[in-house]
Amino acid sequence: MAHLVHYPAGHRDDRFWISMGPLFFDKKIKRDLPYLRDDVGKHWFIVFDDKTVVGFAAVEIKKNGVALIGSAWVSDAKRGRGVYKSLTDARLDFAKSRGIKTVRATCLPASAAELLKRGFAEVSQIGKYRTLEKSL
Ligand SMILES: CC(C)(COP(=O)(O)OP(=O)(O)OC[C@H]1O[C@@H](n2cnc3c(N)ncnc32)[C@H](O)[C@@H]1OP(=O)(O)O)[C@@H](O)C(=O)NCCC(=O)NCCS
Repeated sequence: MAHLVHYPAGHRDDRFWISMGPLFFDKKIKRDLPYLRDDVGKHWFIVFDDKTVVGFAAVEIKKNGVALIGSAWVSDAKRGRGVYKSLTDARLDFAKSRGIKTVRATCLPASAAELLKRGFAEVSQIGKYRTLEKSL
């Protein structure tokens, strides 16, 4: 049974490192997400299937009140089943609960499609990375 867990900024426990640690060094994931890393200010939303991570995504609240969303990944076997959508719902709900007015995403084409459907608009593009923004 899949369940979604929120790891707030600054809160990392054994389960976080045991389950996420290897993924930060996974060569295949690194190919998709070369800038993937943990940061003290990142809130992680992680979908577990029992003890296995099937998807994760981050949101970071910046001092200027903008929420940055990114670092999204879903395992091959679980793609196309709405895991990314649930991660994005959770991140946007969280940003709203913090009173955030602007959400910004630097994303790849695969996630940009879903964000554009949700009313994000493109503000810039560098290579394959597009920066999208939405007002909440
Ligand atoms: C992008 C990714 C997170 C999507 O995860 P997912 O759980 O399969 O996505 P969902 O099932 O929630 O689908 C969400 C929507 O995005 C669309 N989508 C998913 N993958 C897509 C792709 N490669 N290209 C275009 N659209 C895509 C789906 O069709 C769906 O829209 P629909 O309901 O209108 O059909 C996953 O493919 C992945 O981990 N890719 C590699 C890493 C990456 O690119 N991360 C994004 C960078 S931040």
